[in-house]
Amino acid sequence: MNINIAAVDYDGLIPNNVALGDDPRVKRALEKWHPGYIDWWNDMGPEGFQASLVYLRTAISVDPKGWAKFDYVRMPEYRWGVLLAPQHADRKIPFGRHKGEPAWQDVPGEYRAMLRRLIVIQGDTEPASVEQQRHLGKTAPSLYDMRNLFQVNVEEGRHLWAMVYLLQKYFGTDGREEAEALLQRRSGHPDTPRMLGAFNEKTPDWLSFFMFTYFTDRDGKMQLEALAQSGFDPLSRTCRFMLTEEAHHMFVGETGVTRVIQRTCEAMKAAGISDPTNIEAVRKLGVIDLPTIQKKANLHFSLTLDLFGNEISTNAANAFHAGLKGRYREDRLKDDHQLEHDTYPVLRLIDGKIQNEDVSALSALNMRLRDDYVVDANVGVGRWNKVIEEFGIPFQIKLPHVAFHRHIGEFSGVHADVDGKLLSDAEWNQKRNDYLPSDGDKDFIESLMQPQFEPAKFASWIAPPKVGIDNKPGEFEYVKIVDA
Ligand SMILES: [Fe+2]
Ligand SMILES: [Fe+2]
Repeated sequence: MNINIAAVDYDGLIPNNVALGDDPRVKRALEKWHPGYIDWWNDMGPEGFQASLVYLRTAISVDPKGWAKFDYVRMPEYRWGVLLAPQHADRKIPFGRHKGEPAWQDVPGEYRAMLRRLIVIQGDTEPASVEQQRHLGKTAPSLYDMRNLFQVNVEEGRHLWAMVYLLQKYFGTDGREEAEALLQRRSGHPDTPRMLGAFNEKTPDWLSFFMFTYFTDRDGKMQLEALAQSGFDPLSRTCRFMLTEEAHHMFVGETGVTRVIQRTCEAMKAAGISDPTNIEAVRKLGVIDLPTIQKKANLHFSLTLDLFGNEISTNAANAFHAGLKGRYREDRLKDDHQLEHDTYPVLRLIDGKIQNEDVSALSALNMRLRDDYVVDANVGVGRWNKVIEEFGIPFQIKLPHVAFHRHIGEFSGVHADVDGKLLSDAEWNQKRNDYLPSDGDKDFIESLMQPQFEPAKFASWIAPPKVGIDNKPGEFEYVKIVDA
């Protein structure tokens, strides 16, 4: 008999490694929630491929090595479940006013509302991205890419399960109500939108999908990293396992953009075009010109920065002080982990100028997480530029200034260009289309979104991947399409 505590119990309706069988109240609550979830998946999950066989990975263990098993699955039959990383014995609260006390195994009464709110906000993003991406299957540039889209989608569904488990297990009646509400809101709906702005935007094409998984799933990573530090141990353990799944989403984004860039550069070279700004000539080759790729990056980066909230935030201070949400890699930072006497430089708009101001480190935690995010996001951009450089094309993708195109925080009331120069309304209106995709750019990209569903084939605008998923060869049929 297998007594590996990392292994997942797949016997019941809900796969889990939390001994759900010994917890009839929570098991019943989740079983009651399950049909509503399946209804949501059928209504709002990937459109048109629910009967198809998709080569998906499913977690069979939470051991970092080899936790996934690959097989053909119909998405509605995916084994969504509750998976927590193993408990660390004697774990202590790593930061805040309770630093050094034993980590909470139950919800501390005084922080109940704050904790529930953090879980609900995280939970709301998970189904939102599935809703945003539901139309993309129909225009997949290959079966490989289609499979990756669906893998991301089912895992975002599982992330919703992860947050719903916490709500059902630890928050009683109001947790149940929140779990229901997570199935009711809809991305972009005028009356019942998702909670955060970027999750109500459209993901209209595959370049947007890759940018979203690169930039916006990376916000997910930062939030999960901060919550993985939580003194509330079940939240910490949940987020630690979610992070292992999240890594694949960002891989899909980074390599997706890399392959688009690669294809563009190859086509330019073959046609003898060396000027990347000769947009018309490049587009005639059926690939996406580099300046348009830059505009898409500008859009998704700036929308994602809004997810970090106000630079100066009492909520963030309170959540840290209470020991609920830490900093990025709190456990590797060398300071007192309480920050009551520290300051942190925050980029602000002061007297019409963008400048740094030292503010209390506790109130600057959103800013700090955002700074860590920008550093992390820049790493992959460097790798994109390596590809362009190898082709000798004089162009570099750059992340825009943090004041560019913002709707939340210090810079939401002004216009700035990608270098952080403030612009009048008139100047912004004149230059906007130099920085963000114009209607013409969108139409062009849309014209390229022709499906390519033959194994081993790829749409004109994207290069094949270097390696297959699960080391499968190029001709592997990642999705066996079955009409419903
Ligand atoms: Fe997620
Ligand atoms: Fe994700």
